[in-house]
Formats: sequence, C-alpha cells, structure tokens
Amino acid sequence: MEKGTVDMHGRAETIHRPLAPAGKPARRAMPVHVAIIMDGNGRWAQQRGLPRTEGHRAGVRALKTTVKAAARMGIRYLTVYAFSTENWHRPRLEVGALMSLLVETLERETPELRAEGVRIHGIGNVEGLPRPVRERLAWAEAETAGQTRLVLNLALNYGGRDELVRAVNRWRQAEGAEGRPLTEAVLARYLDTAGQPDPDLLIRASGEERLSNFLLWQLAYTEIYVTGTLWPDFGDADLERAVDAYMRRERRFGGIG
Ligand code: FPP
Repeated sequence: MEKGTVDMHGRAETIHRPLAPAGKPARRAMPVHVAIIMDGNGRWAQQRGLPRTEGHRAGVRALKTTVKAAARMGIRYLTVYAFSTENWHRPRLEVGALMSLLVETLERETPELRAEGVRIHGIGNVEGLPRPVRERLAWAEAETAGQTRLVLNLALNYGGRDELVRAVNRWRQAEGAEGRPLTEAVLARYLDTAGQPDPDLLIRASGEERLSNFLLWQLAYTEIYVTGTLWPDFGDADLERAVDAYMRRERRFGGIG
C-alpha cells in the first residue's frame, strides 16, 4: 500500500500496486469499503439438522474470520448486515436468540477487535434495539473509538428506507427551518455512514440476488458480487475471490470509461 488519495468523486481511495504480473492487464485498486449481506445461516443449520440459531453462531465465527482477513488485506471499512428492520418478523425465539448473540459477541470479541485495530460503529435505528444490545454496542464503540485500521459498521435494526427517513428528519430538525434546499452532499452528512466513503463492493452470500433494503443510498454505484457460499462457510478465500473479481471490473460511474 503506498498512499491514500481522493478520487474524482471525492472519495478516499487507497492506492495499491497492481497485483497482476508483468504482461497481464493492470487491475484497479483494492476496495476501500466492502459491504456484506451475511445470508444463509438458517440453510447452513438446516443442512446439518441443527437449530437456526446454531447457524447464526457459525455466522459470527465467519464474521470474525472475515474482519481479520479484511484488516490484513487493507480494507478500511467493512459494513455487515447483522439485523434488519424486517428481521423483527422472525419467530420471537429466533429474534431473542439473535439479540442475546449480539450482546454475547460484542462482550467477548471487543477486546480482541480493539487489539486488531478495529473500530466498531453501529448503524441503524439503534434506539429501537433492546437495552442490553444498546448498552453493549455503546460500550464496544467507546472501547474501540481510538482504532483506525478498520471501521466495522454493524448494521443493527437497519433498513435503507428507514435510514433515509431518519436522515431527512435529522436534517429538518438541524437546519430545515432555514429553508435551504436539501442537496445530495447535505443529506449524506445526516446518514448513519456520514463521513465514510460509499461501499466499492457489496458481497451477498448464499446466492440470493437482492439488496434487501441494505444501504440503498450508499450502494448507488457499488459493484455487486454474489457467491453461492452460505455465510457460515465464508472464509478468507471467499473474500479474496470477491476482491479479485472487483479489481478486474471497470467502474464508469455513469460515464463511458
Ligand atoms: C441471514 O441468514 C442472517 C441474519 C439475519 C443474521 C446475521 C447475523 C449474524 C451473522 C450474527 C451477527 C453477529 C454480530 C455480533 C454482528 P438467514 O437466517 O436469513 O439464513 P437463511 O436465508 O438460510 O434462512
């Protein structure tokens, strides 16, 4: 990794030497921000005759592996969809198990994540989460506030539409009364991801080809990579494959390249 710079869209880009050997076409830079829809925990468990909650536990293990791999690879932002605004419709027992798993995981993993240079940041409608989750999340954010190697955005009670509504309401409360028109740049400052570059790459596990209300604003020009791997089986090699595929793509942002 050589240096950080800013691309034509004003986003932070980290410049890497092309990994392709001489004679092969040069590839684009590493993604700075990777977003992941961690899907397939339930099917993974079902295939093994286990309760769905065991799939979520295995999903946490895959997440830990992925965070470490992302940090090693030089990815600076990782945003993972851990619980959506729609996930409340799941059976009460599964929702409860997921909330307990969140508390337990934050409690257990935060010290190691901090030692790895990871900063934890919750995105989503955090106020709507049960108090133990809110408290553990606030604690994890405070514990890791000084870390700069990788920002780990945990999307909790997150919905893209909900985030946009909350952003507009925050803007209206803060400055709407002044009657200034809302612009894209101003709205971006009120999103949960304010100050962060948009994801370069979205990975969706388990073969589904949908956005599922994830980062609707931020994914406008994101490259999408779908893998059939169920999330609990996702590992270093899968992340490397996704990044490699991304680095071979041409991004035109609506231009002609
Ligand atoms: C989707 O699989 C997965 C979820 C709704 C939960 C993802 C959560 C984790 C991996 C735990 C995260 C924990 C922390 C601490 C961030 P699914 O249940 O929809 O699987 P299916 O489509 O096979 O049923």
